[in-house]
Amino acid sequence: MTETSARFERTLVTAALPYANGEIHLGHLAGAYLPADIYARYLRLRGRPVLFICGTDEYGVPITLAAERQGVSPKELVDRNYVSIRASFAGLGIEFDNFSQTSRPIHAETSQSFFRDLHAQGRLKQKTTQQFYSPSQQRFLADRYIEGTCPHCERDGARGDQCETCGRSLNPTDLIDPHDALKGEPLELRETTHWFLPLGDWQPQLESFIGAHPEWKENVLQFCRAWFKDGLDDRAVTRDIDWGVPVPLPDHAGKVLYVWFDAPIGYISSTREWAIEQGDPEAWRVWWQDPTTRLVHFIGKDNVVFHALMFPAMLLAHSEPFILPDNVPANEFLNLEGRKLSTSRGFAVWLPDYLAKFKPDPLRYAMARNLPETRDMNFTWEGFLARNDNELGNNFGNLFNRVLTFIHKYFDGAVPAWSPDELQDADRAVLAEVAALRDRWAEHLERFEIKAAMECAFAAGQAGNRYFDEAAPFNTRKTDLARCGQSLGVSVQIVRQLCAMLAPVVPFGMARLWGWLGMETPLFHGGWDEALRDVPAGRPLGRPEILFPRLDPEAIEAEVARLQRLVEDRPA
Ligand code: 2FM
Ligand code: ZN
Repeated sequence: MTETSARFERTLVTAALPYANGEIHLGHLAGAYLPADIYARYLRLRGRPVLFICGTDEYGVPITLAAERQGVSPKELVDRNYVSIRASFAGLGIEFDNFSQTSRPIHAETSQSFFRDLHAQGRLKQKTTQQFYSPSQQRFLADRYIEGTCPHCERDGARGDQCETCGRSLNPTDLIDPHDALKGEPLELRETTHWFLPLGDWQPQLESFIGAHPEWKENVLQFCRAWFKDGLDDRAVTRDIDWGVPVPLPDHAGKVLYVWFDAPIGYISSTREWAIEQGDPEAWRVWWQDPTTRLVHFIGKDNVVFHALMFPAMLLAHSEPFILPDNVPANEFLNLEGRKLSTSRGFAVWLPDYLAKFKPDPLRYAMARNLPETRDMNFTWEGFLARNDNELGNNFGNLFNRVLTFIHKYFDGAVPAWSPDELQDADRAVLAEVAALRDRWAEHLERFEIKAAMECAFAAGQAGNRYFDEAAPFNTRKTDLARCGQSLGVSVQIVRQLCAMLAPVVPFGMARLWGWLGMETPLFHGGWDEALRDVPAGRPLGRPEILFPRLDPEAIEAEVARLQRLVEDRPA
């Protein structure tokens, strides 16, 4: 059966554009960025053309709120956070082909031209609604800037979008005594006019689009079916705030594109930016408009409606022939030490803090083993230590080290004389076992089942260790040198296969191991045949170092204690 990724000429992988209102934490990583990076690296390893696109989402109320809290302009805030988010991703080995910002001119141009196209075709409709207006500031306020008394639980301090006390979601007009959340001033209702995308018009096409993808994750399909059942509504595509892409129509001063309209177009602008940097400004088109391209959006579950329904409707409505996503692998949420993450309370693990203390590979590995693929999962520091010490170290690192050290000690550091023609049953059995596990590993990755793929890699590591114990080169060295060399030759092939299977997940360590194996082309650039080519007898091997050192239990305890203090200071 042809693998899914091989049925297309190329794959465009996107990861949800993170809001530039703060740092990236482990929850974000588990939701979208790590799975997307592992998948993109897997495709590169297989020699399949892939473009991995992202950038920061820099408009909307979360940004203006954070900027006001920090006393800086929104632009200063997003530029600062962009630099730091980009550095965190690089530190963790999340390797985008382009990482842009939605506040750049290319994005304003791309999203305005998208809006203009829909507007010119009559795909958007205008509606007048009543919204709260601040006379003193002469502007309409966004829902989250409005506060009042909750009509349900009668507590003060409920926001225009939600009451934090009873958890109900609200409209600003539901509030009793609505006022400006920041200044406390009274507000008045005024009429305002906005543009909407009538999603209902696209429901039949969206239903057949989703219906053609029974292979999508069940959580995503269920979500879509529930929306279809309720019937799709008009979705606003403009807003009355001053931080955003201006609506490109006359008489629209003070109105901008709604952030959930412009953000997904950010994937297109980032691809255009990439194309310009390649010196071929039109090169973005093949990635977005050629049906032989496969589009895959990695997101967290809170973004499903936008990526599975809203953005596809926008793409369908455009007069140019955009492709639709072939898959939207959305992950569930990650909890931390048994509790919900809370950025406002600081109950999270942020990447800059992590990277200041630990290496990227152990986190990538521990998370890949524990991704919230089908249900919410829990990250614990103890679990992280165990994954590093017991699995990366004791299973994989141990095998790599045993094989390479032995060859250095007794065979001058060159692959001993071995021949595929002289395999014994045990050699054939282990090579077949590892090859079968590698095939299953690939099948799982094709379906975005990273945890299951990692099970296969882990089992292959165990098979390699078992083989080494049973072939016992430490004994045959004295009794049968030819057999000793043969079993080490076989072991080197297992190491090479494991290196390929682990590479998408722990790329830093595996790039070093690949070098020690003396492979001629870099790990991600030689293609699959090269990755599977035998390491020949006589090849000099690099002197190994410990790739995955044990973690210091005290450092782990300190992290647990920091989180524990946050819980004690402010119990949930
Ligand atoms: O939820 C979020 O973090 C959003 N900033 C995701 C945007 S994804 C895309 F549409 F840009
Ligand atoms: Zn309430």
